[in-house]
Amino acid sequence: MSRFRDPPDPLFARLNASIGFDRRLAPYDIEQSRAHARALRAAGILDADELARIGDGLSTVADELDGGSFPLEEGEEDIHMAIEHRLIEVIGPLGGKLHTGRSRNDQVATDVALYVRDHARAGGRLIEALMARLLELAERHVDWPMPGYTHLQRAQPVYLGHHLLAYFWMLGRDARRFAAARDSAGELPLGSGALAGLNWDLDREAVARDLDFDSVAPNSIDAVSNRDFVLDYLSAASICAMHLSRLGSEVVLWSSDEFSFCEVDEDFSSGSSIMPQKKNPDAAELLRAKAPRVLSGFLTLAGVMHGLPLAYSKDMQEDKEALFDAVDNLELCLEAAERMLDRLSFDREGLAEAAADEFAAATDVADLLVRKGMPFREAHGVVGGLVREALEHGKSLSELTPEDLRRHSELLDDSYYEVLSPASWLESKGSAGGTASARLAEQLDAARATLAELREEGPS
Ligand code: ARG
Repeated sequence: MSRFRDPPDPLFARLNASIGFDRRLAPYDIEQSRAHARALRAAGILDADELARIGDGLSTVADELDGGSFPLEEGEEDIHMAIEHRLIEVIGPLGGKLHTGRSRNDQVATDVALYVRDHARAGGRLIEALMARLLELAERHVDWPMPGYTHLQRAQPVYLGHHLLAYFWMLGRDARRFAAARDSAGELPLGSGALAGLNWDLDREAVARDLDFDSVAPNSIDAVSNRDFVLDYLSAASICAMHLSRLGSEVVLWSSDEFSFCEVDEDFSSGSSIMPQKKNPDAAELLRAKAPRVLSGFLTLAGVMHGLPLAYSKDMQEDKEALFDAVDNLELCLEAAERMLDRLSFDREGLAEAAADEFAAATDVADLLVRKGMPFREAHGVVGGLVREALEHGKSLSELTPEDLRRHSELLDDSYYEVLSPASWLESKGSAGGTASARLAEQLDAARATLAELREEGPS
């Protein structure tokens, strides 16, 4: 018997079903079902024998799900119902007792929270591995000069190690965001019922401990309609994917003939179907292109949740594909980025040659004038004039004669030529966080300490 006389219209059934994509929640659904059964036992709703039989039945169903022999009935709506139906088939009507004191609303929120916790941890671990790779690369290239850019125009030289560490710190912030997403999924929804709480006094604290949640969600209405933890994951994932897209983008540029700063290993490149000479940095391009897709997951769910009245609405079923797609793509990209970097080689000479572009020392010349008493803004103008004159005569800055210099400023003497020796532009950037070797050594120490800290905190 049921409230409904007729079966659902096939089109409605298709629209309504989540079984096509929520199957990956199955292990979490089984895990929480076990914990729920134990709570039912503790409350005297199941006896010891019933608990054991339900536990065995769930094991059988879990094995079937794992081994691919789970018989999925036609018309099944979602994984929660499918598991319950199968449990009843396997152990008989007793299986129907499992849903006492549980609604699919608190059930699905709990499954998704468990899933987010797992993948926030997994993401964190992958980020750490990528950070370790970047640190190792930075150590190996600590004193390799390269041009630093703004507006993708050569700006000031930096050490390659310094540039690589920029990504290390970006990812370090990502790691913190994933840890926060993990915490945000730390309140147990189960025990909230459909929205108002339960007619049964189940020990939610015990269930929380059992399932490794930090605490019990304090408001049943909020608990069943909360998907903030998914948004927290998706926002962390979006920012991280954006970082990877910038890394990918630089590898694409740097591996081009125009830059020739690095070479992507063959394992991470593909050829062209028509141009035999081509070796394309597809992996790096895809790191670049996946970011909007991950972000679209955030936008989808933020859109779904926007303006939704409390508590649960079926709209919220749309959280899953957005989340799963982001998880799959982000985890793949993090892993691929680490391996691609492992096999990336840099061209020391090419980088050094590009970094030796003297115009990059323009700020250093301006600072020289400042040290001799000229206000910076004025010095900026004087050096601008020197650059123009050099360009007009096809000269480098050091090819300007002392007489040329004097025409621009009385303050320009031989120290001008010293400032233009390449090593000095890098080593003069000695402010905290700057590229000078001593500062970079400190930065490497700080990066090692940060990585050790992250590893120590580990997945909570
Ligand atoms: N498949 C549903 C979802 O993903 C499960 C919850 C259904 N709850 C309900 N009251 N119909 O959200």
